[in-house]
Amino acid sequence: MARTLIHAEDAGVLHSHAQLNFHNGKYIYKITMNAGKPELSVTDGTRTLTAPLLWAFGTGEVGQSYLLQRNGNYFESRVSYFRALDNLHFTPARSLLLPYDLEEAMARPVDTGEIRRCFSCHSTASVIAGKFEPGKLAAGIKCEACHGPGAEHTVAMQASILQQGFGDEQAANLIFDPGKLDPVDSVDFCGACHGSRWDTMLAGISGVPSVRLQPYRLQNSKCWGSGDPRITCVACHDPHVLLVQDISAYDEKCLNCHLANPGAKPVSDHPGAACPISTKNCVSCHMPKIEVPEMHRAFVDHQIRIVRPGDHLPN
Ligand code: HEC
Ligand code: HEC
Ligand code: HEC
Ligand code: HEC
Ligand code: HEC
Ligand code: HEC
Repeated sequence: MARTLIHAEDAGVLHSHAQLNFHNGKYIYKITMNAGKPELSVTDGTRTLTAPLLWAFGTGEVGQSYLLQRNGNYFESRVSYFRALDNLHFTPARSLLLPYDLEEAMARPVDTGEIRRCFSCHSTASVIAGKFEPGKLAAGIKCEACHGPGAEHTVAMQASILQQGFGDEQAANLIFDPGKLDPVDSVDFCGACHGSRWDTMLAGISGVPSVRLQPYRLQNSKCWGSGDPRITCVACHDPHVLLVQDISAYDEKCLNCHLANPGAKPVSDHPGAACPISTKNCVSCHMPKIEVPEMHRAFVDHQIRIVRPGDHLPN
């Protein structure tokens, strides 16, 4: 998370590829380096537009999107980098098969409200005293975003900016220790950026598009019950280290609540039944990977459940 936003000229993905490209009909997109600075160019065969890239969003582990500035306004590149393709494709939710002109084909204008939201989730302290200060922000999610003086302030501000488009002044006086949150608040804390259950429900998002909104999916699981510290985001993920990709490492998290021996009866500190099928690699069957087409890869479904052949994705 610490490197989820960087200046485009520092993006390893762009330095390690002499050229990235994509084409849609007559439009050809290229990202190349020009004297160490990345540039996006789009041509329709007769005319070519070129613009320097300013910010790179996303580490590139999954994908990376780019912001550019033209005449003082922000634009989002119509194409993004995807690890699975190791090349460019349409930015998720922004595909435009028949653009009106070259300008529209190149990038989408992003208004100030939306820009503030992007930076709220991808950087630290981009809003100072209610004012959006892109010149002063710390790119990426730094310690201070979750700790430090005014940390809850930051997250509460982010949450209220996301919901209402402005900061909540009352949040300014709070001091914060994320380790002391109760389970619901703890998940909402991560949900300020990862999409809380309420935000997801209010936005009417379900099915495949909700798979990446882990708080919503997790809280739909029977395991969640009414909340338990053993099933919060931080029970499985340490936000200070990179995501653990060895699935067997998660077994002990399940077995904190589930019995290991199918003959045993659930007890108060182990309320979960034992699995009749297996004693290891629990997530490989109960947290299946769901393909998200516009991301060109699959993501773990945090709605923990029994998966039977032919099942539809629940919720
Ligand atoms: C200020 C916004 C913000 C908050 C708060 C936040 N995240 Fe994230 N998180 C992000 C962003 C942005 C990414 C995307 C990283 C990327 O791919 O560029 C991310 C990525 C992740 C990843 C996957 C990538 C990796 O390698 O680590 C995990 C796991 C994760 N977050 C867990 C958490 C947990 C647990 C919490 C709560 C303790 C949390 N996050 C709170 C913004 C946030
Ligand atoms: C509500 C908070 C929020 C907002 C607003 C937001 N992002 Fe993100 N973004 C995230 C989180 C959280 C992740 C990590 C998702 C995951 O791994 O499940 C992420 C991941 C990404 C990634 C990495 C690829 C991927 O999908 O994992 C890119 C690129 C990205 N965001 C770009 C943007 C851009 C550009 C904007 C503004 C137009 C934006 N985001 C607005 C929270 C946000
Ligand atoms: C995405 C949010 C997030 C970020 C960023 C973050 N932390 Fe934390 N930190 C947490 C949470 C949540 C806890 C409580 C974890 C728990 O209870 O398991 C915590 C706990 C801690 C603790 C107590 C550890 C313990 O074992 O009790 C320390 C020390 C700490 N963080 C330091 C840092 C430092 C230093 C940085 C920057 C390098 C940082 N954190 C970045 C969310 C974050
Ligand atoms: C906080 C404790 C807790 C944790 C952690 C936990 N579970 Fe559960 N889980 C439960 C409870 C309670 C139930 C409901 C009673 C039951 O069916 O055992 C449940 C139900 C289930 C079910 C049955 C769902 C259904 O539709 O009938 C499966 C499968 C399951 N858990 C798997 C897992 C796996 C795999 C993990 C680890 C990735 C895990 N659980 C982590 C408490 C937990
Ligand atoms: C019971 C354990 C468990 C809990 C609780 C949990 N996760 Fe995960 N999470 C996983 C596993 C397993 C993976 C997949 C790791 C891998 O193989 O890459 C994962 C992957 C992720 C990823 C990477 C994206 C992906 O799908 O590949 C993000 C982001 C993430 N979790 C965020 C969260 C957030 C936010 C919460 C709290 C709402 C949460 N997780 C709660 C087990 C858990
Ligand atoms: C190879 C796939 C697979 C693995 C690995 C696996 N399970 Fe299961 N699990 C299943 C299937 C299939 C069922 C449904 C069995 C049935 O009802 O016919 C099930 C059922 C369950 C149930 C419901 C039991 C009940 O009596 O309601 C729980 C709880 C559960 N598994 C937890 C776990 C845990 C915890 C682990 C890891 C220690 C695990 N599973 C590993 C496939 C798997």
